Amino acid sequence: MEVISQMKIKKIELKSHGDKRGQLVSIEQFKDIPFSIKRVYYIYDTKDGETRGHHAHKSLEQFLVCVKGSCKVKIDDGNIQEEFNLSRPTEGLYISDLIWREMSDFTSDCVLMVLASNVYDESDYIRKYSSFLEYVNKNQRSNKINQKGAI
Ligand code: TYD
Repeated sequence: MEVISQMKIKKIELKSHGDKRGQLVSIEQFKDIPFSIKRVYYIYDTKDGETRGHHAHKSLEQFLVCVKGSCKVKIDDGNIQEEFNLSRPTEGLYISDLIWREMSDFTSDCVLMVLASNVYDESDYIRKYSSFLEYVNKNQRSNKINQKGAI
């Protein structure tokens, strides 16, 4: 089975500092995740059967952690699709740019925390799937031309 490169998406296991009082997880930029954190947002109280996402970013890295409850994340790089289940506060999903994502199956208690490499910028969003595919194809073509130029 083909999978998307780990440079583009990967599950990251986080260390929990547990003692008799309970658990604590810390996430540090460039140590636990491969980017600097400019923004944090969280999604909660998602209504039964609702889905979110349905977009990609031109230039943004994100790290998703279900700090409570669980949800599914469908990922698509324009060629390969994968599905992940996020259900523990000690695991997260790293997503780089040009990845279409859709989140679903939120439990009613789900709190999905997202760390992002940049501030909110609507112009960085690609919200139409056909535009996403066009953007990916254009990007792949210009990468090939650049690689040829480098030889
Ligand atoms: P939206 O991008 O539709 O959320 P999702 O893709 O997860 O379904 O965002 C919902 C609203 O929140 C929209 O009006 C934009 C706003 N928003 C911000 O103001 N800042 C943010 O960091 C994010 C992610 C969204």
